[in-house]
Amino acid sequence: MSQAFDVVVIGGGPGGYIAAIRAAQLGFKVACIDEWKNAAGGPAPGGTCTNVGCIPSKALLQSSEHFEHANHHFADHGISTGKVTMDVAKMIARKDGVVKQNNDGILYLFKKNKVTFFHGRGSFVAAAEGGYQIKVAGAAEEVISGKQVVIATGSNARQLPGAEFDEVNILSNDGALRVGATPKKLGVIGSGVIGLEMGSVWRRLGAEVTILEALPTFLGAADEGVAKEALKVFTKQGLKIELGVKISEVKNGKKGVSVAYTNAKGEAVSLDVDKLIVSIGRVPNTIGLNPDAVGLKLDERGAIVVDDECRTNLPGVWAVGDVVRGPMLAHKAEEEGVAVAERMAGQHGHVNFNTIPWVIYTSPEIAWVGKTEQQLKAEGVAYKAGQFPFLANGRARALGDTTGFVKILADAKTDEILGVHIIGPMASELIAEAVMAMEFKASAEDIARICHAHPSLSESTKEAALAVDKRTLNF
Ligand code: FAD
Ligand code: NAI
Repeated sequence: MSQAFDVVVIGGGPGGYIAAIRAAQLGFKVACIDEWKNAAGGPAPGGTCTNVGCIPSKALLQSSEHFEHANHHFADHGISTGKVTMDVAKMIARKDGVVKQNNDGILYLFKKNKVTFFHGRGSFVAAAEGGYQIKVAGAAEEVISGKQVVIATGSNARQLPGAEFDEVNILSNDGALRVGATPKKLGVIGSGVIGLEMGSVWRRLGAEVTILEALPTFLGAADEGVAKEALKVFTKQGLKIELGVKISEVKNGKKGVSVAYTNAKGEAVSLDVDKLIVSIGRVPNTIGLNPDAVGLKLDERGAIVVDDECRTNLPGVWAVGDVVRGPMLAHKAEEEGVAVAERMAGQHGHVNFNTIPWVIYTSPEIAWVGKTEQQLKAEGVAYKAGQFPFLANGRARALGDTTGFVKILADAKTDEILGVHIIGPMASELIAEAVMAMEFKASAEDIARICHAHPSLSESTKEAALAVDKRTLNF
């Protein structure tokens, strides 16, 4: 007799595991199926984010930043260390430990919330009376049923034709997070979020890093002012970033990788590196899901087609996260997971796509929410801009990290905040105030009138709000 559930969630990444927990909280009988295996073959829920994405990348960014501080900044504080060395194997082992804590945490949360976890691949068998049959192929094979199904099968790294990932020399995000020793020369194709974060990690540890980007503009999705400042700072740090390149050939040999490309001037160039990270975006993943068995509709990119509320073309089947349209971000996946669970329970789950923050965890960090200045111009919106540099912030000076600024864009007439763009220390944390303000439709004046602790980096946000009205106090 097959086990029957109210809700079956396929995929245990941030979209899936959060949907499962919220559905269980709302009283549904829930199963979550996830196939990710740890090194020992055991379950490792948490998806890309936990295993080869957000969490491990931030662990390595932290370790490499400590190393950089010890090498270059401790002396400013009067601390002398002698020669600082990096044990890469230990750094990777620490990162693996952090990942495991998160995997175990999710298994604990499943137990706590009475979500039944299945370790294996979930695929559609058929639509059944009042629901769907789902095959779970794990250590054993069984068929379970769900009255409703949430698909959260995530995404995979996009391959560059002719440069197959071997995870030894040509690395996806997976291999880039477990390089055994710092490469002398590292090439990166794509100056997006992964390219910059992983490029920064290995640059800090001593690799000579060259990033090759196809587009002529750097960080096109970010505000132009932020992107310009970021390019200046990253270049000064030693990242070699080439824009407007066209890759012609990638050769993977015993000694490393050779990349032939045409640069922005139209010259043919060859770059030899020990390792090459290819980070040119991600593609939705429905491998093994067997969508045809039930007639689940995919678009031309392979993403599952959903409406604004994450409903697929099939009754009772929902899809969330990287496998559907929208930004490929863990917090976007989580919000959709919660909203879907609440909709299944007859509530009014909601995701506000206008207030999803973006963060790039380089140093300085980059974070933004809402519209960029170039978007407002293109849309013909009349706006005011206020900017405040961290150079004029007491806490930033005390930290010894005064790069960057906070910029606030507000409607010229109503003063409503339309976008906030930060490059600087702890931008990832500072952006939360901006998201909250926008969610509550705050004006720049609202932030300007709120008491911010002194000395704190957040005073720069208040000052940027004052700058919208041309009345900064400290600049
Ligand atoms: P995933 O996390 O990809 O999870 C999908 C899960 O489903 C996986 O465990 C997979 O094994 C499982 N699965 C797939 N098919 C099946 C099947 N048929 N049966 C059973 N299981 C299946 N986002 C941020 O917001 N912040 C960051 O700092 C950040 N850093 C990142 C760094 C890197 C290097 C990468 C690659 C990504 C990063 N992301 C970050 C993006 C983030 O990881 C994704 O947006 C997020 O993981 C998407 O969640 P998801 O639940 O949709 O899919
Ligand atoms: P990305 O979309 O951020 O950047 C890809 C870059 O590669 C783009 O600049 C693109 O123009 C360039 N590119 C594409 N094809 C190319 C080619 N043939 N040659 C040279 N350049 C080429 O994708 P990335 O960095 O792979 O990351 C994937 C996704 O993972 C991100 O979009 C983001 O959603 C998520 N992510 C989020 C993080 C965060 O929130 N901090 C961190 C890392 C990843």
